[in-house]
Amino acid sequence: MFRFLDRMAGMFSVDMGIDLGTANTLVCVPGRGVILSEPSVVAVRKGTNQVLMDGMAVGDRAKEMLGKTPGNIQAIRPMRDGVIADFEICEAMLRYFIRRVQGNRKAFANPQVVIAIPSGITQVEKQAVIHSAERAGARKVFLIDEPMAAGIGLGMPIQDPTASLVVDIGGGTTEVAVLALAGMVESESIRIAGDELDEAIVDFMKKQYQLLIGPQAAERIKIAIGSAWPLEQELQYTVKGRHLKSGLPRDATVNSEEIREALHGPVEEIISSVKRVLEKTEPELAADLVDRGITLCGGGALLRNLDKRIEAAVDVPVSVAEDPLTAVARGTGVILDNLDLLRQILETAEDL
Ligand SMILES: Nc1ncnc2c1ncn2[C@@H]1O[C@H](COP(=O)(O)OP(=O)(O)OP(=O)(O)O)[C@@H](O)[C@H]1O
Ligand SMILES: [Mg+2]
Repeated sequence: MFRFLDRMAGMFSVDMGIDLGTANTLVCVPGRGVILSEPSVVAVRKGTNQVLMDGMAVGDRAKEMLGKTPGNIQAIRPMRDGVIADFEICEAMLRYFIRRVQGNRKAFANPQVVIAIPSGITQVEKQAVIHSAERAGARKVFLIDEPMAAGIGLGMPIQDPTASLVVDIGGGTTEVAVLALAGMVESESIRIAGDELDEAIVDFMKKQYQLLIGPQAAERIKIAIGSAWPLEQELQYTVKGRHLKSGLPRDATVNSEEIREALHGPVEEIISSVKRVLEKTEPELAADLVDRGITLCGGGALLRNLDKRIEAAVDVPVSVAEDPLTAVARGTGVILDNLDLLRQILETAEDL
């Protein structure tokens, strides 16, 4: 009887894979691809968890409000360091995205959902993600480690005995994992990624230019001129901020060499993590990696010449995945298409 009802629900619902990221949330629907990609930001009435009018309040529109919200509005990022920092807001955000994807289908037809999570999170944090998604309208929730989803999304032969190494540099976490035989043979998840690169730029501007800028401005600098290795043509960027002493608005023009220096610390930490994982990997699998190389994905993979910098440090070929921002989401879509086959690598509430 339950199976029958389950099937009925399946006929009316839109199952979806979700990359619930610190910076961006993406939704992939089998057969339709990645149909939603929005910043993980929600605008609420200050001091409450009341989300502003639909559509105005989640994603792109809310991100625009970050750091410059009028008195009674507050823009919140419910995810920090790859995990849920604010449960109610995260749930509201998930509910909004799930509803948008479901469209005007009947409310009883709740979808099955595959959610990619950082590999370093605790059982309690996993339960919290499942709970949030269920309360947001999911019928059944399956969790997948982000690097596995990335490997699947990139079409790596993760079921084979040959090893692949994927480095996913997101907003909150960098995940380094050696994938083989449908598992993570070695892995590390560090809470150093895009957000820390932005913070390093904020600190640099304060120290070198006595200029206060917000993390959004720092992110714009990073995307416009950030790099991890010398560029053929070094770049410049003019940023507006507030002078530390006078408190007045002021411009400063920075170049890519200075910003590279500012990013040095967190970039080195990412490289150290890749090195540690390589050192832990069995020699035979490591030999595969020398042949197959390392693949970078996540938004952080777009930092100019990060591939060159890592390649120079570990002496293994490094490449940037095609469309690195959607790798994990595409992987969750493939998983939904092959739920029976891949069930063993997924976790549900019963497994925790
Ligand atoms: N061109 C670019 N150069 C450098 N960094 C970039 C670029 N484009 C995006 N990013 C950074 O990528 C990060 C977002 O990447 P992504 O969407 O993969 O993260 P996420 O999946 O939301 O985070 P996490 O996986 O840590 O939870 C942000 O820090 C953003 O600033
Ligand atoms: Mg991610």
